[in-house]
Amino acid sequence: MRPSSLSFLLLQLCLPVAWASVTVYNQQPFGDQTKSVASGSNTAAAAAYTGSAAYDPTVLDAPGVPNPAPPTKFFQQLSSAPVPGLSIPQSGYFFGFSVEFSVANQVLGTNSTRLAVPFLNLMANIQARGGSVRVRVGGNTQDYATMFPSLPGGKMLLKQAQDTANPTDTPALLFTPDVLYMMANISALVNVEWYLGIPLNDTANLRLQIAEAAEPILGDKLIGFQVGNEPDQYPLHQHRPPTYGPANFSADFGLVDAALLFRVNGSRKKCGTSTLSRPLAESR
Ligand SMILES: *[C@@H]1O[C@H](CO)[C@@H](O)[C@H](O)[C@H]1NC(C)=O
Ligand SMILES: *[C@@H]1O[C@H](CO)[C@@H](O)[C@H](O)[C@H]1NC(C)=O
Ligand SMILES: *[C@@H]1O[C@H](CO)[C@@H](O)[C@H](O)[C@H]1NC(C)=O
Ligand SMILES: *[C@@H]1O[C@H](CO)[C@@H](O)[C@H](O)[C@H]1NC(C)=O
Ligand SMILES: *[C@@H]1O[C@H](CO)[C@@H](O)[C@H](O)[C@H]1NC(C)=O
Repeated sequence: MRPSSLSFLLLQLCLPVAWASVTVYNQQPFGDQTKSVASGSNTAAAAAYTGSAAYDPTVLDAPGVPNPAPPTKFFQQLSSAPVPGLSIPQSGYFFGFSVEFSVANQVLGTNSTRLAVPFLNLMANIQARGGSVRVRVGGNTQDYATMFPSLPGGKMLLKQAQDTANPTDTPALLFTPDVLYMMANISALVNVEWYLGIPLNDTANLRLQIAEAAEPILGDKLIGFQVGNEPDQYPLHQHRPPTYGPANFSADFGLVDAALLFRVNGSRKKCGTSTLSRPLAESR
């Protein structure tokens, strides 16, 4: 007999023994009712209801306050001295948030004439406390986004089922300037200022139409462009060869910066160095 068969047999012999020694613990004191009732725990009548459990009309009685009762007043010593380690004062818009470009038509509105009322309400609520709200429209989808004067069916945004050799399965995005009009119409109602993600998938053929259109449409409500999304992940996401490093991104960024300066002169917005997938300190 081979050792493996032997151990299988032994296991079979052992099984009933193991089953016989299972210990069941109960929650104290609820499973303890068979023990002395005089020791302080209370009992309740067993449920008499026999209908469907979903319609059980039983109302549980709250147990009495223990004796001695727990404290209901607490003393907290407040300090009038400045709390150590405070940051510099921050504006109410310090925390903004980000809307992925591809879902702008689901979060912000269907198009420039059909704004999403829940979004407007949320912005108004935050504005009431923070003064203004800063929203980034961009993300993985910004890098392959292309602007068209119009799209089939009067659509503002379309996802192309194109294989961009992208492990994040990000579809190439087609959009019309109506996205920008939608953002402008939102800013006409609530004090939202925008960061706009612009594409960086192809530095040989920059697609800066979005920047060119956004400047006049959004005006002062456009506070910056974001160039490249998570560039530290570009090699991993196969957007760039494996040798692509910080110096390469810096060169790419410089290209876009120079191109923006050339195309969108005068009131040109600042370019941000884009969002990294992780804080810089971690992405060494
Ligand atoms: C927005 O969408 C609605 C509904 O499809 C349509 O009636 C309206 O014309 C669209 N507005 C624009 C500016 O395309
Ligand atoms: C960049 O994205 C555009 C739009 O999806 C696409 O047509 C183009 O081929 C891409 N270029 C590169 C180098 O991936
Ligand atoms: C709102 O959108 C329309 C297009 O639907 C555009 O003509 C108009 O200029 C926009 N309003 C603002 C304040 O940007
Ligand atoms: C990154 O930059 C280095 C130095 O200029 C260059 O040799 C290398 O080919 C670049 N890699 C990519 C992927 O662009
Ligand atoms: C671009 O803007 C700068 C600064 O405002 C100005 O000096 C320059 O003449 C402008 N160039 C063009 C081509 O308009």
